[in-house]
Amino acid sequence: MSEQTAVPLYLDCDTGIDDALAVGYLLASTKANLLGIGSVSGNVSAAVGARNTLDLLALAGREDIPVAVGAHNPLAGEFSGGAPHVHGANGIGGVELTAATHDALAESAAELLIRLARENAGKLHILAIGPLTNIAKALELEPNLPALIDHITIMGGAALVPGNITPAAEANIANDPEAAAAVLAADWDVTLVPLDVTMAHVFEESHRQELLEAGQPMATALGGMLGYYFRFYKDQYGRECSAMHDPLAAAIAVGGIELGTAPRVRVAVDTTNGPGRGATIADLRRRHLGFPDQDGARIRVVLTLAEEFSPHLVNTIIGSNN
Ligand code: BDR
Ligand code: CA
Repeated sequence: MSEQTAVPLYLDCDTGIDDALAVGYLLASTKANLLGIGSVSGNVSAAVGARNTLDLLALAGREDIPVAVGAHNPLAGEFSGGAPHVHGANGIGGVELTAATHDALAESAAELLIRLARENAGKLHILAIGPLTNIAKALELEPNLPALIDHITIMGGAALVPGNITPAAEANIANDPEAAAAVLAADWDVTLVPLDVTMAHVFEESHRQELLEAGQPMATALGGMLGYYFRFYKDQYGRECSAMHDPLAAAIAVGGIELGTAPRVRVAVDTTNGPGRGATIADLRRRHLGFPDQDGARIRVVLTLAEEFSPHLVNTIIGSNN
């Protein structure tokens, strides 16, 4: 696929180990044309996330892709300090990347998104793999944003499975429920990639070894980060492996992987202060009828894939799919 036919993308992320894998995937995929990246506080602060992203781009020799620092705090409240127990103190599992010599843009992530949306009116795809603060701020700044956007793919939520940060809520949504509620209520077509599917596609030690054995700088760095990530997930799966949340959303955004069950249904976000705060309430009551689409619903909730994801991820990053 040429750059002209590849999906023009704005990526919003909180880089983060699995965010780094999503960046590695998108840089390697011929189906993605990464036009700009915004950072947001989540796994790490927005400032650290931008720095990690710049370093990854420098490692790949892609300093041409602009990076903008986004929101430090969620719409309500303050940044909680991130998830060093999951992603390490530096957000990328303690892997030391060579510091990039280029800097983030002066404009904010929300401003970068709006500018790219205007420059690529009707064509730009948003891929959001962190809390949705920047996207909500962009909607506030430019209420016409949905008309300028082709599609938005979001890693977040839990439809029929437990959350991961509370029993009810997934981290990206829980870190800014007000933003998620605004983004899911906006007038655009959304693909939601929740824990239902991301926890089901496990990245094993054998896949990590394939990355490490490829002898490529990006694959080696990502394989190193995964060593840290696997320690956290050992508690969940009982062995050295991990979920692969953000790269899975990236592959779906660019059409790199085929969907299985993925109904279009209404989804609400719990913004109360009770135990359900941050839960995504997807209307899947018709599951016994095979998950039919709901009339007028614009949120496609991905519950399963039609194929295995981890081999596709490895092969794309090391270049055997291209
Ligand atoms: C999501 O939360 C973050 O920790 C990950 O990067 C991913 O985007 C998974 O719940
Ligand atoms: Ca993320």
